[in-house]
Amino acid sequence: MRIVLMGPPGSGKGTQAKRLADRYGMKHLSSGDIFRAEKSSGSELGKALAKYMDAGQLVPDDVVVEIMAKAITAVDSKRGLLLDGFPRTVAQAEALDRTLAKAGSPLDAVVEIQADDNAIVRRIVGRRSCPACNKVYHTEFMPPKDDKKCDACGAELVQRDDDTEPVVAKRLDTYHQQTEPVMGYYRSRGELPVLTVDGNKDVKDVTADLTDALESLGNV
Ligand code: AP5
Repeated sequence: MRIVLMGPPGSGKGTQAKRLADRYGMKHLSSGDIFRAEKSSGSELGKALAKYMDAGQLVPDDVVVEIMAKAITAVDSKRGLLLDGFPRTVAQAEALDRTLAKAGSPLDAVVEIQADDNAIVRRIVGRRSCPACNKVYHTEFMPPKDDKKCDACGAELVQRDDDTEPVVAKRLDTYHQQTEPVMGYYRSRGELPVLTVDGNKDVKDVTADLTDALESLGNV
């Protein structure tokens, strides 16, 4: 199955995508993780991406589409694909359709995780991330065993540069203005299943709702 996971910043897309990818053996592709890896490599491209990311703005479509089309095409077409953070504009959604059509493997479903703006700010400000293996924690809701280190690989946990209150407010604004219309684009297609789950619940309850939703489609 090829699934797009949508939802505002901090709704739990990354947390849930990792759980679903483990459960179903799907390939999880996160545009944010790919861009952060480029950023920490210190490359010219990474420096250009950082300007947008650290300000809570979207990276321009042509840059995003080139990077993501390459990453998607590299995934074994027999393997399930879970896209997290891409597409984020209608132009990106149209480009994704073209990439998947070329590969002969169109989307099977779009799943939106909804969450309230207040819950989002609390989640993002308390998030701690592992720069080595991308595992995500929360100081209150999902603390690591050792306050500062990743349970999985022992690396020092960090707070993302864009996880501050003012940048979160900007990211939410960007989401409402530029990314919400993507849901309208998918809904208007009619033949494509578009599912919504409540992301305000506990992590494990959201996972249960997502697995029920995906299994209701069969083929997962
Ligand atoms: P990206 O990394 O994609 O950020 P985002 O969409 O803002 O999403 P987040 O990673 O902040 O949140 P999430 O939904 O994955 O939540 P998580 O599971 O971590 O993008 C970053 C930037 O890159 C963008 O701003 C943009 O500049 C650029 N970019 C990326 N893709 C782009 C694109 N396609 N086009 C243009 N620009 C692009 O959870 C958050 C926290 O909450 C964690 O601490 C977690 O432990 C906790 N948590 C999760 N679920 C729960 C729960 N149910 N209950 C309590 N706590 C929870």
